[in-house]
Formats: sequence, C-alpha cells, structure tokens
Amino acid sequence: MSQVTVRIPASTSNLGPGFDCLGLALKLYNRVTIRRDDASNAPKIAREAAQLFFKKAKRKSFRFACTMSDHIPQRRGLGSSASVRAGILVGLNDLAGKPLHELELFELCSDLEGHPDNAAPALFGGFTVSNETGVQRFDVGRHLRCVLLVPELEVETKKARRILSKQISLPRAIGNIRGASTITAAFVSQDYEAARGAFGDSVHQPARTKLVPFLPRVIAAAEKAGAIGAFLSGSGSTIAAVATSNADRIARSMRRAGPTKARIIIVATENTGAFGGISRRR
Ligand code: HSE
Repeated sequence: MSQVTVRIPASTSNLGPGFDCLGLALKLYNRVTIRRDDASNAPKIAREAAQLFFKKAKRKSFRFACTMSDHIPQRRGLGSSASVRAGILVGLNDLAGKPLHELELFELCSDLEGHPDNAAPALFGGFTVSNETGVQRFDVGRHLRCVLLVPELEVETKKARRILSKQISLPRAIGNIRGASTITAAFVSQDYEAARGAFGDSVHQPARTKLVPFLPRVIAAAEKAGAIGAFLSGSGSTIAAVATSNADRIARSMRRAGPTKARIIIVATENTGAFGGISRRR
C-alpha cells in the first residue's frame, strides 16, 4: 500500500466531573494522509508519534510524507492534537502491515497525550471510559447534540493542567464520583435525561475558570435554556453543552452569555473512530 488516509473525529472530554476518564467523539474531523516518501515533511507532533510507533512495533523506521487537514479547532479542548497523533499512528501501522493491535495504538496515543480521554474517542468513536491501558466504548444515540461555544481564546493544555489543585476535599471528591458515575450510566443506557444535574465538577473547572472566566455563566445559560448539562470541553477554551432538543435555543443563550469573539458549532456525536476511518490508495 503506498498511501493511507485516516479520518479522525474531534472529541470532547471530561464531560465535567469525569476528569481524564470520559470522552465523546464528535462529527467534526481531521484527515491525515501518509505515504512513504524520502522527502519527509512531517511536523514535530507527527515525528514524535512515528518515533514511538517504530520503537513499539520493533520495525525499521521509514521516512514518510504527510498532509493534514485542520478542521478541528486547535488549542480549544476538542482533541485536535489527539486527532493528529491518532492519524499518524493508525496510518503508519497500516502502511507497516499492522504490526500493532488497536489497544497498543491506543496506549501509544494516550502516552503521547499524557491522558487517555481524547485518544479513546478519537480512535474508537462513541462515548468512552478510559484509563491509560484500557477503553470501554459505547454507541451514542443519533439524536444527541453537542452545542459548542468555541472562543477565539486559546488554552494550552499543559498550562491548564499545571494550575490544578493537588488536593480536594472528600465531599467534593464524592460529588465528582457521583456525577461521573451518573453520566456514565446515562450514556451506557442511552437515557441521556438521567444525566441532568450531574455535570458539576470540583476537580478542574474551578481552577480553569481563571483561564476561561466566562465559563460559569455560559454553563448556567446553556442549562437554563434546556441543555442536559454543560461543561468545559477538555481543558478548554471550548464550552460544550449536551442536548437532545432545543439546540438552537441553547446555542443562542450560550452566545449571549459568552465572549464576543467566539463561534458556535452544533454537532452530532460520531460512533466511528480512526480505526473505522481508514482508506487506502495504491
Ligand atoms: N482530561 C484532559 C484535561 C483533557 O482536562 O487536561 C485535555 O484536553
């Protein structure tokens, strides 16, 4: 095979209380095309992924050229870096004759990311519960929508992780465990209404409000307009609301409560991840 293209979905992660665990793939995509080529033009993020891939696969490395689309907004908490890493890993694995299986590729992607919750939906699609070495994924109903308020403001994940508190009180920890469990049960049973009221978070959003000051009022506006729940998407700056109806009304409310420089994207969830998005050309 001389050329492989991988379509990778965007993802929202954490879903409020499920910090570094929960993820959801979205119908918004990047495409990564790779071909063996001595005139390698791969950017740093791709070279790092390739280096880890060849090491883990115990294959002699080859040079490759890649082209990438960038439809997923970058540094906005929508899994753009995970999409590139996933695309490179899945594409190289395909070109190399599939020496690694899916879970091994997931582990590599998660390792490069430093957390597993974007790597999981990017690779497997759907709603995912993940740790560094394992994923459980579930189909998401077609009627679920994510309303995204994507500010012009960029947030660097590394910085947004550095500012987190190292300790949390027991009642707050219990609140997060309860919320994440409720959301998980609701998504697994596809009874999304059961997750209403469960999206509060005490682990990462309070500290990140320093970086995204309009977060509490956009969440409140979305929930008041009928969203099942709203939360900071990954480490931000995007704010996501999940809903089964009234997406336009929720979007208008979020826009009114948000910064002037922001755009709204209403998007369905995606059940196919990068593993199901491979196309080949000779
Ligand atoms: N769980 C990660 C975080 C996601 O919140 O830092 C980064 O997009």
